[in-house]
Amino acid sequence: MITAKHNYSLKNNNTFRIDQTAKCFVEYETEQELVDYIRSGALEGEKYIFIGEGSNLLFSQDFDGVVVRSLNKEISVVCENEKEVFVKAGAGLHFDDLIAYCVEKGFGGIENLSLIPGTVGASAVQNVGAYGVEAGDRIHTVRMVDVKSGEVVEAGKEECEFGYRMSRFKKDWADKYAVLSVTYRLDKNPEFVLSYGGLSKMMEGKELSLQSVRDCVIAVRRDKLPAVEEYGSAGSFFKNPIVSKEKYEKVVKVLRNENDESAVPMYEVSETEVKIPAGWLIEKCGWKGQKRGDVGVWHKQALILVNYGNGSGRDVQNLSKSIQEDVRNRFEIELHPEVIVL
Ligand code: EPU
Repeated sequence: MITAKHNYSLKNNNTFRIDQTAKCFVEYETEQELVDYIRSGALEGEKYIFIGEGSNLLFSQDFDGVVVRSLNKEISVVCENEKEVFVKAGAGLHFDDLIAYCVEKGFGGIENLSLIPGTVGASAVQNVGAYGVEAGDRIHTVRMVDVKSGEVVEAGKEECEFGYRMSRFKKDWADKYAVLSVTYRLDKNPEFVLSYGGLSKMMEGKELSLQSVRDCVIAVRRDKLPAVEEYGSAGSFFKNPIVSKEKYEKVVKVLRNENDESAVPMYEVSETEVKIPAGWLIEKCGWKGQKRGDVGVWHKQALILVNYGNGSGRDVQNLSKSIQEDVRNRFEIELHPEVIVL
């Protein structure tokens, strides 16, 4: 069924729990419903956005257009061979439900992404990642609809141009295609990725299985990140900046000039570049655990901005700007939001 509501509060449709409204809020269940809706011309001349659970959005004002949400939660094995299995899931399926399904069936590859908020559709748009794995590593095909013509097409992984929290759905495909479903390629004999973020240490003494890795990731996330049910947030607010090694040395120098001998964390990206954790930069600027009215910086992970209750999108945006300014002034590094600000 497809439904349309007018002047609809988005509070329960974005994980920041920002109370802005959409001029029109549409929910659909099947691919055909969305195709028919597009072909009816309902989006023509309208501003529109396709959302999942709104786990990567910040509404800084009312949305003067159509917000479309998929409720397609279908999941099926579409084909398999000796080594691999291909699982197709509707864009509206809660991403962690797909992971739980795969882990239960013994299909490996996305267990490190356990408990990431959001939907299957968003996992492709955002190329979500955690603990050394990115969704794009495992995506085989994305099925999508042309938002102007209603034509349904499929794109292979290469065409999607996955990058760090990036895909074509955030670039030239942003207003062109909406994701209908995603097919993931999983392994029947899982190869575990434990190299990142102390996962291998946490797994010490435990039997290695898809379920134990999933449990471990869930435990780390529960410990570090605010519970979505309790606090409004959108996970990491900023991307980790990728900077030249010279820039990295400058950051080290800033600390040394202040007689701070602590190490500056980084992950090597290439021979010339490194990624510095934005959470570290923000913490060094004194923001960790700070509150400003009803919004603030999470006390256990400074990369997460939180709405403690009735904060507005503007409050979060203003807070993010102050943080960017401090990091820029202190380290000459520009932080870019991972979250899409509307
Ligand atoms: N750190 C601090 N202070 C902080 C936070 C982090 O000093 O408040 C430093 C520590 O040195 C820590 C390092 O940063 O060792 C890395 O922190 P963490 O392992 O928490 O990872 P992250 O780089 O901050 C990224 C992703 C997360 C993902 C984790 C684990 C981005 C923008 N964020 O965070 O993804 O869960 O790695 O893989 O890449 C998300 O995208 O919403 C998200 C939560």
